[in-house]
Amino acid sequence: MKKNPHEVKVFVTRAIPEIGIELLKNEGFHVSVWPHERPMRPGELIEEGKKANAILTLLTDLVDKNFLNECKHLDIISQFAVGYDNINVPEATRLGIPVGYAPGAMSDATADIAFGLMIAVSRRMFYMHKTIAKGEWTFFRPKANLGIELKNKTLGILGLGRIGLQMAIRCKGAYNMRIIYHNRKPNAEAETILNARLVNFDELLMESDVLSVHCALSDETRGIFNEKAFRKMNPNSIFINTARGSIHDEQALLHALEEGIIWGAGLDVTNPEPMNANNPLLSMSNVAVLPHIGSATIEARNEMSRLAAINIVEFYKNNRIPNIVNSEVLRPGKD
Ligand code: DGY
Repeated sequence: MKKNPHEVKVFVTRAIPEIGIELLKNEGFHVSVWPHERPMRPGELIEEGKKANAILTLLTDLVDKNFLNECKHLDIISQFAVGYDNINVPEATRLGIPVGYAPGAMSDATADIAFGLMIAVSRRMFYMHKTIAKGEWTFFRPKANLGIELKNKTLGILGLGRIGLQMAIRCKGAYNMRIIYHNRKPNAEAETILNARLVNFDELLMESDVLSVHCALSDETRGIFNEKAFRKMNPNSIFINTARGSIHDEQALLHALEEGIIWGAGLDVTNPEPMNANNPLLSMSNVAVLPHIGSATIEARNEMSRLAAINIVEFYKNNRIPNIVNSEVLRPGKD
């Protein structure tokens, strides 16, 4: 949609790194940013959406059917994230609203968190740290606090895309791990450079020593790690989720950890977020939890900001969106 940026109001739903805001302002767009630290409530989002031509959203924004129908005048929605499960994309598509996103920016940062959680769980690091603070470090004990090693083990990845590939590269390089994965489509790059092997979901569960989740949240993956799935994993296996908390069933995970059905779990995502401070997972020796910081590096967040802004700039200047979710909305002749 070609439009003079001076006629376009862009609303940014949270204070994101300046790089994207500056980029929009330098192009001449009118930019306003939600001034509060907390996420927007649905009503507030609708109110601001009504005044804008374009919105730059975060995963904490509820861009559901109701919002979209209240704000069907919007020219574009650009998401500051690789995941966009907070957006009802079919409804946006139906209304002809293109949805942009920011993939690639956080692949290294998120893979580092998955890799770090894997090691932390294998040696119970988060829990050990807490025992010192509680005055429980008495003396060296030869048979206590034992972890497991990762060398030559099997890494299983659910959803081997950009982030999963970086996790697999780290695990292969550091521990010579064998890589298996379950995807809808084969990942030729991973098969060539890492000798990764595509398996079915049951094989992934049964063969993985470390099972790391990197897929998108969808109807297909919601709650896929349920009691039945955990029961198929091996008792020395580690479950890592840095994708979305709703992909695992928390009660089933808790049960699997308590009963020794799996060795441990590392989570950067929970359901709900934030996790309640009284959650029993937080006091377990075989669990490490982080507060959704996969993309929280200066480099990744700057790049996410730039990519989300570029989608808006390119849309109004050249009728293209470099990273688009629903490309069918931009087909020729649509403008
Ligand atoms: C994403 O990009 O989807 C992350 O979860 C948040 O940065």
